[in-house]
Amino acid sequence: MNFYIMTLFPEMVMGGLSTSITGRAMEKGLISIEAVNIRDYSMEKHRHVDDAPYGGGAGMVMQPGPVCDCYDALSARIGKRPRVLYMTPQGRVFNQTIAGELAAEEDLVFLCGHYEGIDERALEEIVTDSLSIGDYVLTGGELPAMVMIDCIARLVPGVLNNDASAEIESFYDNLLEYPQYTRPEVYRGRQVPEVLLSGHHKNIEKWRREQSIKRTYERRPDLLEKAGLSKKEKEYLAQLKRL
Ligand code: ADE
Repeated sequence: MNFYIMTLFPEMVMGGLSTSITGRAMEKGLISIEAVNIRDYSMEKHRHVDDAPYGGGAGMVMQPGPVCDCYDALSARIGKRPRVLYMTPQGRVFNQTIAGELAAEEDLVFLCGHYEGIDERALEEIVTDSLSIGDYVLTGGELPAMVMIDCIARLVPGVLNNDASAEIESFYDNLLEYPQYTRPEVYRGRQVPEVLLSGHHKNIEKWRREQSIKRTYERRPDLLEKAGLSKKEKEYLAQLKRL
């Protein structure tokens, strides 16, 4: 899977994503990540890419020319016009379901704005999806792009050493993950739950599933409506609610 990031700060995104698991996935050739500098498409001597807003107001606006030319050049080079995800607090809020959908694409372009944003005409020309990482405002789209790429990349087969782990973690099936324990068996007087030492896989699975439901009920009850609970599990939840 190929990620392209259109940005004014290529070092920022490449620095972050070249380390750890995404870095290793790049080395293994499972994913590629390329930052494209929008400034390279400025037509000006001083390489400006922004100007004052028509109608007045604070700040600067990124001009449409460099943004569209950058995308056109990238598209021509790779021989297709991939989906363009614009990072903006005005977008749909990114979540695990959206990550799963995007992971099915072969190529994705992330468009990172700065200053007061990008000229609306450039957005109309090239953007296919507007996405936010939450209801707060950042100084640019680079951190949101990094967050989304990290999240999508770990869904690409082979990126995580353990393929199964993406299926039992938080938000899979709209439930939070159960608590995990490792050695020692007793730490500061706190004992590892007995069932996990029993070696009885059926009981362990049942306990974990119940812990997931309990946690989700306590911490993120909004998720439970979308969780696929069995009849028995719904009874367990009803019993929790009565306590
Ligand atoms: N750009 C600035 N703030 C943002 C946010 N919360 N999500 C996505 N892009 C942004």
